[in-house]
Amino acid sequence: MTSDIDFIRGLPKAELHLHIEGSLEPEQMFEFARRNRVALPFKTVEEVRAAYAFSNLQDFLDIYYQGAGVLMTEPDFHDLAMAYFRRAAADGARHVEMFFDPQTHTDRGLPFSVAIDGLLSGMAEAKAELGVSSKLILCFLRHLDEEAAFATLKAAEPYFSRLGGVGLDSSEVGHPPSKFAGVFKAAHRRGLKLVAHAGEEGPPEYVWEALDVLGVDRLDHGNRSLEDPALVERLVASGMTLTVCPLSNLKLCVVDDLKAHPLKRMLDLGLKATVNSDDPAYFGGYLAQNWIETADALRLTREELVTLAKNSFTGSFLSPAEIATHLAAIDAYVA
Ligand code: HPA
Ligand code: ZN
Repeated sequence: MTSDIDFIRGLPKAELHLHIEGSLEPEQMFEFARRNRVALPFKTVEEVRAAYAFSNLQDFLDIYYQGAGVLMTEPDFHDLAMAYFRRAAADGARHVEMFFDPQTHTDRGLPFSVAIDGLLSGMAEAKAELGVSSKLILCFLRHLDEEAAFATLKAAEPYFSRLGGVGLDSSEVGHPPSKFAGVFKAAHRRGLKLVAHAGEEGPPEYVWEALDVLGVDRLDHGNRSLEDPALVERLVASGMTLTVCPLSNLKLCVVDDLKAHPLKRMLDLGLKATVNSDDPAYFGGYLAQNWIETADALRLTREELVTLAKNSFTGSFLSPAEIATHLAAIDAYVA
């Protein structure tokens, strides 16, 4: 019998919660800073890694937005995406739904097209060279106002046919989903899929708002839903997919120990959970590492691993025919 590590790496899977700016490795940060003549407050890779000790989401976000400041050109975004896709492909990812934060870049003076054109070209190359398909999800920064989100949606209009959807990320507490009701409604009217981070640090009420006010098609994190049995019932009954990020939760102190991570409890409750990496360069591991460490800490069975893999495709925004093809590949792999 193959080891669980080999079994996990080979298992066909999708990644549904990945911020591409969060895949910026310290080595790459120095490379882009050199290329673009951007000054960094760090002298060595070790110094950068030493700064990655976070006590909460905001600690991380401060350093994550600072790191993104080295990304200046379309080739930077292309190369960032391809570096991520190579790691994802090696981890057994067959499909990725990738977030990006355009406001982080337009607020630094980059034209809207730079990040999105670079990422779309990386995505096309990943499909051609690695056989990994992908969709791009534009996230609005929730610490900014809804007017700024509307301006971003307007700038994205020429790209709507190439966007997988819109999402909501950044500082959660104090910025409830309802703050973005109007812009999500506008995105929905334009046929875009909707996702939102909710219940990572924010209360169950924020998850209710993501469902009832925004009308999300998928929920990012959702951990704190478990505090509200009526909410769990609602999520189970609607078959809502949760994009759970175990190593992120550990690094951002959402859980103190992976052994106490709620992923197994979510599966036992009948929630459609998936395992994802969030910001792998900052949180200590890419997709397979999240699976391996979580499977070990929670003693997940092969049956549970297969359920997680299937959830990653049924919770994706692929077509029913594409999903069926991936599910068949999982069955063939297990057999
Ligand atoms: N939560 C909220 N916003 C984010 C995250 C996260 O985990 N990663 C990047 N932006
Ligand atoms: Zn996230």
